[in-house]
Amino acid sequence: MSITTDGHHEKHALGIPMKRKEDPRFIEGRGRYVDDITLPNMLHMALVHSPYPHARIKNIDSSAALKVPGVLAVITGKDLEGAKLAWIPTFHGMDKQMVLAVGKVLYQYQEVAAVVATSREAAHDGAELVNVDYEPLDPVADPFTAKADKIILRDDRDNKTNHIYHWEVGDRAKTDAALAASEVKIKERMWFPRSHPAPLEPCGIVADMNKATGRLTLYITSQAPHAHRTVVSLVTGIPEDKIRLVSPDIGGGFGNKVPVYPGYVVAAAASVILGVPVKWIETRTENLTTTGFARDYHMDVEIGAGKDGKVKALKVSTIADHGAFDAAADPTKYPAGMFGICTGSYDFPTAFTDLDAYFTNKAPGGIAYRCSFRVTEASYAIERGMDLLANKLNMDPAELRKKNFIKKEQFPYKSPLGFVYDSGDYHATFEKALKKIGYDELRREQAEKRKRGELMGIGISTFTEVVGAGPSKYFDIMGIKMFDSAEVRIHPTGSGIIRTGTKAQGQGHETTWAQIVAEELGLDPQNFLVEEGDTDTAPYGLGTYASRSTPVAGAAVTLAARKIRDKARKIAAHLLEAAEADVEWKDYKFQVKGAPAKSVTMAQVAFAAYTNPAPGTEAGLEATYYYDPPNMTFPYGAYIAVVDIDKDTGGVKVRRFLAIDDCGTIINPMIVEGQVHGGLTEGFAIAFMQEIGYDKSGNALHTNFTEYLVPTALETPHWETDSTVTPSPHHPLGAKGVGESPNVGSPAAFVNAVMDALEPLGIRHIDMPLTREKVWRAIRDAEANTAKV
Ligand code: CDP
Repeated sequence: MSITTDGHHEKHALGIPMKRKEDPRFIEGRGRYVDDITLPNMLHMALVHSPYPHARIKNIDSSAALKVPGVLAVITGKDLEGAKLAWIPTFHGMDKQMVLAVGKVLYQYQEVAAVVATSREAAHDGAELVNVDYEPLDPVADPFTAKADKIILRDDRDNKTNHIYHWEVGDRAKTDAALAASEVKIKERMWFPRSHPAPLEPCGIVADMNKATGRLTLYITSQAPHAHRTVVSLVTGIPEDKIRLVSPDIGGGFGNKVPVYPGYVVAAAASVILGVPVKWIETRTENLTTTGFARDYHMDVEIGAGKDGKVKALKVSTIADHGAFDAAADPTKYPAGMFGICTGSYDFPTAFTDLDAYFTNKAPGGIAYRCSFRVTEASYAIERGMDLLANKLNMDPAELRKKNFIKKEQFPYKSPLGFVYDSGDYHATFEKALKKIGYDELRREQAEKRKRGELMGIGISTFTEVVGAGPSKYFDIMGIKMFDSAEVRIHPTGSGIIRTGTKAQGQGHETTWAQIVAEELGLDPQNFLVEEGDTDTAPYGLGTYASRSTPVAGAAVTLAARKIRDKARKIAAHLLEAAEADVEWKDYKFQVKGAPAKSVTMAQVAFAAYTNPAPGTEAGLEATYYYDPPNMTFPYGAYIAVVDIDKDTGGVKVRRFLAIDDCGTIINPMIVEGQVHGGLTEGFAIAFMQEIGYDKSGNALHTNFTEYLVPTALETPHWETDSTVTPSPHHPLGAKGVGESPNVGSPAAFVNAVMDALEPLGIRHIDMPLTREKVWRAIRDAEANTAKV
């Protein structure tokens, strides 16, 4: 580390206001963003990024940066090597990741150095002046080039190949034989492009090492505070009791705030070394170019069927672009996440899927962007595949789906790729959707329009998800089992506090957890404080992503409340002077069986728990529950999009979009509807507007919001939503997750609608995003081909 003066502590202390901003919400660690946090003596950090996708670092010269007024230190990878922090384990645990580049840079914008200064402006000015001498190397910009192994990207590995891993599931021989014997077959390569969650607030941290108490507090944009604290402890050796992570309002996460990023590590290291708080707030470009991307799967989808449309076999072979480090955020035993859900809602007698992942000169990632670990890619593959099959069979895609749905009576259903689906009634949900949108009428309208040469399309996606990671026998992240927890404490006057190991980023846990406890205990939901995200107070849990909160923590909240009710019954019996066996919980009250007039409310019991506890019972009224789910939950949906395409411009107008979701028992319909609206809007953006692209030399093409487009109210279609309810048989409330369903299910509906509109022109498939230009070119090319014939 280079530091301007020996007395830097005194120096920066002079320039910084010592008075802490008083804000009670901040003290509680809630209700504010990391960027709002200001601590006494706080320093700021900015990062230096590589302009090259692949280059050797010959020298780093910090002298000019250190002359900038306010700049105190320039930190490089070599400095971190001394602190054994040059590399950190990746989320999935199969690889490691450079914190600040040492030796080589492996993607454009990779972090090369950090500048610490007394103001954010000075830190950024200093970062501009860090002079790095690079020797550019040939880049590997796609996984197909990577596969050839002509240029090996990772010289730190013993294994001199760009191949990361091979993964497969299912019966290859049986599937190949069934495909060969099928009367009708389709095979299509589909690319689900790189996308990015682009949360409203980028990532950030205020790391506060208090040398007096020996505690390191990290105010951080984290979707999984407990898991992050454990990782910090394991990597640094600081005991967990000396580390506090507080994740306040984080401005959206969508999976982007699950991994540990270099900015966090360097800011924490700088604070530990300097003994003062250090703040790092990411820029939008840093967020889009260096933090967890999603998707980037090149999938060969094959389906075999009989002439009647009955499916016989599914095979999906994928080439995955993982970027420079294997930082995919998947549970340990699932390198390709839950991709095995690719048989979807259909009863395939056999299936096989395999995947090969490669390093390229791109940012690392592979995070679950509003998705239960690769479920979005899997759903897209099967739902596009089913439409291609319908087209080949000349069959209505709705008919094809109805013919092949898993039937209600087949649940619990074991898929050929190993999942045991808990519940579903696909036919009923789909029929509701067809009726509600007026499917037959729309098909008639389309036939009329086709006669006039107009392009109208109807796209269906009847997807099934697998969410709620997860049962500890299968799921862990770096060895930590994926259970979740809840602590419920009822105060003497009948109000209470609920704390969970999850961390909402806008999903409304504050409302739904209070609703669950209120419903279980007959108390007022308004009188519950819900607290998440502070490792000093919340029970241990694995956080919020992949729609796991309701299936896992929601169950923990329910069962903690039920534990309280069991104890409350003893107190109620004491108050009612009845035997416990004679007291029943009915109409939100404890009543003596057969004598309903003799009753006490939970509020009365709560007061007694502190003032008049039953003899032999512990005082107080609280419970903690760690819930280990017996299975995943399998929410599903029936989505239908209707589009009109302008032949002359390629512009697609989504005229209607109906989403019928089944997430089992619904706790809060308004929140569920909000989740669906948000997810559909993101799915729409992925289908039509967004891509994290690179040119052939590995230069990042979509680095800000003028290039990576975010839909506004102007572009966003009107969403029609509804639901069916098929409870999960193993969740204590029958609830399944929902947050990601619309993002998982909608891209295929949009693309199927556009392809359906373009079908008369003989266009079979276009990869997302279906921009105006891409659609226009496809139409022009198709017309030119027809003219030639
Ligand atoms: O893990 P995450 O919170 O992102 O997703 P989720 O479990 O799908 O929940 C999203 C929000 O919808 C939460 O506030 C849930 O409590 C609510 N929800 C609900 O009211 N009913 C359901 N069956 C599922 C979710």
